[in-house]
Amino acid sequence: MYKPFLLLCAFLLASIAIARGHQSATQEKSGSAEPTMTPEDVAKKNPIAPTPEGLAEARKLFGYHCAMCHGKEGDGKGDLAQEMKLELHDWRDASSIGKITDGELFWIISNGKGKMLGGEGDRTPEKMRWNLVNLVRSFGKKGAPAGDKPKTENPQH
Ligand code: HEC
Repeated sequence: MYKPFLLLCAFLLASIAIARGHQSATQEKSGSAEPTMTPEDVAKKNPIAPTPEGLAEARKLFGYHCAMCHGKEGDGKGDLAQEMKLELHDWRDASSIGKITDGELFWIISNGKGKMLGGEGDRTPEKMRWNLVNLVRSFGKKGAPAGDKPKTENPQH
């Protein structure tokens, strides 16, 4: 005779449990939305060697997603950067990011940093993000600043 009451209790308990489970799942998600750079990230080596093809592909994506801030040639003077009054590094001077490791560049490209919101994260395959690191470095290689290179190196390189 208490059956309906018991059923109601069971139903209530079940819905509370489901709601709790849901809540903790969404909490976990929002917790991981703020990634932090670990020493392992900083120490990561670029597994992708720069190739003309890889750089060309990265340059295409760079034109769509990055040039409005970082400038087509990496000078940091894109339209959006000017509008937002961002002070960006001029990557044509390799020393501007000389102290930043490839791992850090990769992490920032993947996750964004400060006013560089979001980053490429999952929308761009890992290999392409390493190619973007190569591209960012390549901007500084053309007009490499004097005194930065070992004297024995062939200037054609
Ligand atoms: C809204 C403007 C904006 C866009 C779009 C943007 N960035 Fe940035 N980027 C920044 C800012 C601002 C920083 C400096 C962040 C800091 O140090 O606080 C930065 C930093 C970086 C750095 C670290 C080296 C440095 O100069 O500080 C790399 C590498 C980088 N961006 C690559 C990219 C790539 C690749 C893309 C496109 C996939 C991109 N960015 C898109 C604004 C932008």
